[in-house]
Amino acid sequence: MDKFLIRGGKALRGTVAISGAKNSALPVMAAALLTAEKVAIHNIPKVRDLITMSKLLTFMDAKVTVTEVPASDYVIEAPRLNHAEAPYELVKTMRASILTLGPLMARLGVARISLPGGCAIGARPVDLHLKALERMGAEITTSHGYIEAKVPGNGTKGRRLKGAHIVFEKITVTGTENILMAATLADGETILENCAREPEVTDLLVMLRKMGAQIEGDGTATLRIRGVAELHGTEHSVIPDRIETGTFLVAGAITGGELAITNCEPEHQGAVIAKLKQAGACIEIADKTTLRVRGGKKLVASNMTTEEFPGFATDMQAQYMALATQAEGASVITETIFENRYLHASEMIRMGANISIEGRQAVVHGPAPLSGTTVQASDLRASAGLMLAGLVANGETVIERVYHIDRGYERIVEKLGAVGAEIERVHGPA
Ligand code: UD1
Repeated sequence: MDKFLIRGGKALRGTVAISGAKNSALPVMAAALLTAEKVAIHNIPKVRDLITMSKLLTFMDAKVTVTEVPASDYVIEAPRLNHAEAPYELVKTMRASILTLGPLMARLGVARISLPGGCAIGARPVDLHLKALERMGAEITTSHGYIEAKVPGNGTKGRRLKGAHIVFEKITVTGTENILMAATLADGETILENCAREPEVTDLLVMLRKMGAQIEGDGTATLRIRGVAELHGTEHSVIPDRIETGTFLVAGAITGGELAITNCEPEHQGAVIAKLKQAGACIEIADKTTLRVRGGKKLVASNMTTEEFPGFATDMQAQYMALATQAEGASVITETIFENRYLHASEMIRMGANISIEGRQAVVHGPAPLSGTTVQASDLRASAGLMLAGLVANGETVIERVYHIDRGYERIVEKLGAVGAEIERVHGPA
């Protein structure tokens, strides 16, 4: 397994370009299953989750063509889908495989998807996806670890989902995306309430509309979808990755450096920019796609609570915690989205951070001098937090299990190295 070696203490300076959003590319790729025609997708980041998604689509008999360098353009063609199935081997490495459930049910009226199960950051059930599909007429059973879903009826005509009025009990990002996709080909109108408003949901909506879907309510909690008989091919470029953007904003601030972050979408960074400014970072919107961050001023403690968009993203919590270790005073962090998302804290404590955790709250006292040691990455964003801690730690930090980082950060060692970080990847046995 690969490791990262980081020698901390360097202020990061220069320009870094943001890649396409992993969490947008995943549903957008799954949406290509909704049509027999060709779908071309640009700005797909070269990260492991998207390789997994393309394996999954290929398993279902879609043809996925990837241009090699950069691997940012995918062409997906799914004239026939002979295996409406997401096998355990793929789902266990990527929970977002569940995003194929909605499109398969819409197009074929049948799907067999391995149950994702829990993950390091919590139980993460998919009950809301399933309840919504049941409201749309699907019959769902789970057996042998698989979700078996079908629309009763004969032939494709009889196997269509029906429009329904669905109020999500809890805001769910992939749940909203799944049911949005399912509703595009359903008979009649679907109204979805209490939807996630994340920019990735809107990006999917925009692409579905280009495919011929009839949807209203962009960026709001209520989406209205009028089902159409079929969708057609299209071309789409995914939005910039707001979590990668936020991670580099913290990297600039925590190291006391100065970064220009290009190819990003400043409008998606409202909560992160506001919080980092409160904590003492200087951030300016240089133009429509560029942010500048300047550290150097003393960082000060500021409380932070994770929320659904437009609030502060849970996917930025670990990175913010790294920053809080260097801020003067007590920062109270409250994680409201996932029940077990502080696995990085114990590793930061091993590096010298002063953090105490009680339930969903973490209190970080700073500034605490961090010293490099060997730490374990436990999930994608936790690893990003440890990497940031490593950038300010004294001496050498070794991050093990970086396959978690590779799931979602494109060429992270190269990008950090190009702006002055001393970081290298050490290849180990698989
Ligand atoms: C997505 C993101 C992930 C991010 C998360 C929250 C993708 C591929 N992943 O994950 O990076 O951290 O949103 O912003 O886009 N829940 C249920 N029942 C369900 C579904 C969800 O109880 O059927 C709960 C979850 O356990 C969690 C909360 O709802 O506590 C939010 O989860 P959700 O928005 O669904 O997260 P994901 O879509 O899995």
